[in-house]
Amino acid sequence: MDAIVVKGGNVLRGSITIAGAKNSCLALMPAALLSDQPLTLSNAPRLSDIRTMARLLQTIGVEVQEMDDGRVLSMSAHQLTQVRADYEIVRKMRASILVLGPLLAREGNAVVSLPGGCAIGARPVDLHLHALEKLGAKIELSDGYVHATVNSSSLRGTTVSFPSRSVGATENIMLAAVLAKGGTKIENAACEPEITDLADCLRKMGARIAGDGTPTIEIEGTDSLNGATHITIPDRIETGTYMLAAAITGGELTLRNARVDLLPAFCEKLDAAGVQIDSGDGTINVRNRRERLKAVDVATQPYPGFPTDLQAQFMAAMSLAEGTSRLDERIFENRFMHAPELARMGADIQISGGSARVHGVKSLRGAPVMATDIRASVSLILAGLAAHGETTVSRVYHLDRGYERIEDKLAACGGDIRRIN
Ligand code: EPZ
Repeated sequence: MDAIVVKGGNVLRGSITIAGAKNSCLALMPAALLSDQPLTLSNAPRLSDIRTMARLLQTIGVEVQEMDDGRVLSMSAHQLTQVRADYEIVRKMRASILVLGPLLAREGNAVVSLPGGCAIGARPVDLHLHALEKLGAKIELSDGYVHATVNSSSLRGTTVSFPSRSVGATENIMLAAVLAKGGTKIENAACEPEITDLADCLRKMGARIAGDGTPTIEIEGTDSLNGATHITIPDRIETGTYMLAAAITGGELTLRNARVDLLPAFCEKLDAAGVQIDSGDGTINVRNRRERLKAVDVATQPYPGFPTDLQAQFMAAMSLAEGTSRLDERIFENRFMHAPELARMGADIQISGGSARVHGVKSLRGAPVMATDIRASVSLILAGLAAHGETTVSRVYHLDRGYERIEDKLAACGGDIRRIN
């Protein structure tokens, strides 16, 4: 099992190209199921999650062609061979549930394993299932699988009002409603940039969607959709992670193929902590304005609020900041597992319920630490870059799910970081 070894203290300087957004690509790929013509995605990130989604689609009968070293995916679903997503694949990646909506829309039935929980929480899919039932699906749960069927000839458009914001449930409904009979109005829809990216791609396929990026999305169902070519937006979480890598080492990085407009609340907090952010056409330049970051308070929120996927990384930076910061995790019930690992490196963190108080310390010490999810693992890498001595982060398969060749990208900017197995 691979591990990553970081020797701290180097100041990062240089440029990093940001990959396509994992969480956008994982919603765009199931859209291929909606048409018998090819959907081609470019700027796809080369991550294990993407390969897992490709494998899942192939088991359903989608032909997946990888080009340009995995950056371009061409998917053709002209003849599906099954409507089943097995536990073996789904347990590795929760986003597999996103084949449920398009399979129902295209074939009228689907058997998809329940994803099960993960380290950061129970991760239920009740919002997905209730919304699909509103569109006319009959849903039964048995032996750990969702058995979904559509009695009439197709799903029927309606108003779906979510009791709480859900990125995945919004995506699943969009992927179903575009082929439903009549109009669908989604209320309390998620507003993340990945929702807008999915809507842009579906519109290129001929779907009629408006209001994406706001809490109310209107979709007019069509009988069929065409193929299309779509460029995945840059990964805003990878972007924020490398902005923090510059900040925590007191260095300066230029991020290419990066969009600062995808991270409004995060950039505001980073600026308040004393980080200078200058953006140009498709680039972001990051450097510290002061010797030491200032502690700032953060509460994670649905977009456009502070992203939960950057909370762990931000905590690593606040561990060395001047003052005390309060981090409230309001999206997931158990997303502080990086805190005890950071504490083993000397961070001073008190957790109570969904709130963490981080008292900045002058320095961290390298230590053997363990990752528990994608973002917790990268927060330990960030801490290791700034710590005195050597940090070994084990279980890096979590990292490889969300970060494309992180050790190469950081080493190219002066980071003393290498992968061992
Ligand atoms: C997406 O997960 C992302 N994953 C997550 O990124 C991200 O943290 C999350 O959105 C929030 O922004 C992908 O896009 C593949 P939700 P998703 O449905 O869709 C609860 C990463 O590190 N909920 O918006 O699963 C849920 O438990 C990952 O890249 C229900 O109760 O998130 C959570 O508390 C981690 N019932 C809250 O809603 C449901 O049916 C928000 O979850 C669905 C969700």
